[in-house]
Order: sequence, then structure tokens, then C-alpha cells
Amino acid sequence: MAKPVILVTRKLPEAIEARLAEVFDARLNPEDALWGRDGTEVAARAKACGAAGILCAAGDAMNAAAINALPESVKVIATFSVGFDHIAIDAARARGIAVTNTPEVLSFATAECAFTLMLMAARRAGEGERLVRAGQWEGWAPTQLMGVTLQGKKLGVLGFGRIGRELAAMARGVQMEIHYRDMQRLPAEIEQGAIFHETDAGFLATIDVLSMHVPGGEGTRKWLNPERLAQMKKGAIVINSGRGPSVDDEALIAALKSGHIRAAGLDVYDGEPRVHPGYMALENVALLPHLGSATIETRHAMGMRCIENLAAVLIQGISPPHRVV
Ligand code: DGY
Repeated sequence: MAKPVILVTRKLPEAIEARLAEVFDARLNPEDALWGRDGTEVAARAKACGAAGILCAAGDAMNAAAINALPESVKVIATFSVGFDHIAIDAARARGIAVTNTPEVLSFATAECAFTLMLMAARRAGEGERLVRAGQWEGWAPTQLMGVTLQGKKLGVLGFGRIGRELAAMARGVQMEIHYRDMQRLPAEIEQGAIFHETDAGFLATIDVLSMHVPGGEGTRKWLNPERLAQMKKGAIVINSGRGPSVDDEALIAALKSGHIRAAGLDVYDGEPRVHPGYMALENVALLPHLGSATIETRHAMGMRCIENLAAVLIQGISPPHRVV
């Protein structure tokens, strides 16, 4: 029996591409050309190769127009990400196309990234690195680049899912007190002593560091807005490694400039890879290029999840293990 054709929109780790080529008739993108950012091109390529499955990634424009233009041959879209806000889920559902993601395997790595940003922001690591690289460091000084410690501070986790909880476990290691905000209170064995807040206002007024772990989409758009920033303590820190659109950039930039927010650490951006130019000149913001899941181990595990999902639909004819639609 002929192997199912898979259209792969991005270059993937070598071992994953090798496995894809064993299991499927995989049409790879060895140059990592960015044609996936144009959803109509994904559809045109899927049509040209008679794809049964599409392996796409965060940043690909799998919008309604792209999904509606896919050929009948496409039965499944497997995204190499846990987030699926780049895929028009309703359009896929309407066409009976299964959509899968890669949950769990990236929780620790993404929490590590949030933790990195938290330290960078609190300890002014980006500023320090820029100083050294610019050849402007004149030696140790008692008052140079003093940050704040995380020890004893209150970490507020917005979205106490797998990533948020991994971050909480790391933060307990530096003696932070954990607070969280979510749709509802979680059982005590999951909370592990973390303190639930019933209102945004009470949560924001309590914490010293806000770490955002909410999904993209209209429900969270510009969640961190001027009103919520004003509810935070003066000198608090903001971290976002979830989705960029959940922050109102203009408002955060104003709060960073005024000093109401001491520092921020961002890994994701509204409209990325575009980054709001207002962040660029600010010393008190650490900016990473969406590195959340970027470890060798995690990217391998994400690739294996995609293969499992594609094989379930196209070879075994069963419901994929990580189906979102
Ligand atoms: C995800 O998996 O959703 C990440 O943001 C991409 O690394």
C-alpha cells in the first residue's frame, strides 16, 4: 500500500524528518522556507502533492481561507506545537479535518523559559550582558545594576495548567510563594499549597511577579490592559511566555517607562515575529525569540507526538491521541 503523503511546512529535527520519511511519503521543507506563513500557499502545495496530512507549526497561517482551500485529500492537520491559535478550528471542524497538537512534552521546557525570563528581569541580566558586550563595563561597583531577588517574593501564575504548575515547582526552589488565577480552584494535590484567587484585582494586587500562561484567542486578547496593570503593585515584574496578544503592548511599555512595572520578560509577541518597536529601546525588558519549547529533547518529543497523531489517522484509522478537533 502506498504511504500517505504528508506535507511538512517547516524544517524539523533530523531524527524526526528521518522517521517521517520512513512512515510516510513526506514532502519536507529542507530550506525551512517560510511559505507556511501564506496559508493559500500551504493549500496550493497540499493540492499539488495530494497530501493526506499536513504537519504545520506555530506561525503558519492556517486560517479559514487556507483550510477552506485545502484539497479533499487532507484528513488531518498535526501542529508541531501545543498552541493551536494559528489554526481556524471551526473551519477544520466544518470540513471534518482532524487537528492535533503536542501537549505535555513541552511543559517543563516552556516553564524553564519563563523561569529564565523571570531571573533575567529580576536580576537585569540582559542589561548586564549588553554592557559587557559593548565593552563598557568598568569593573565591579557596589551599586551597579542592582536588581531584586526572587527569594520570598510572591509569584502569580495566570493559568495554572501544566506549564504554570511546572513553573510553580521551579519557583518553590527559590523560596517564592505561589499564587494563581484560573477559571476555578484546583484540588489540593494539584495546588501543592499554591493560593487561589477568585478575582483578577485581588490576584494582581497581591503578587510581585506575574507569569502569564494563557492560550491565544479572543478570550484573552489584551488581557493585561491598563486597568489590570494599574492594579499591580508598583515595582512588580511581568513575564509572558504564553501568547503575545494577551498583552496590550502600548500599556505595558508605558508602565515599564514610568517604572510602575519594574521589568518584563517576553518570549512571545502580538503579530510575531514583529516586535512592538517601543520595547526595543527599553533596558528593563528581556526579549527572547519564542524559545519556550526550544530544547533538543523537547523538539524531538514534539515531533514524535506529531508522527503518532498522523499515523493514528492515516495508517491505523483511529482517533489521534492528541486531538483538539
Ligand atoms: C507552542 O507549542 O504552542 C509553542 O508556543 C511553540 O513553541
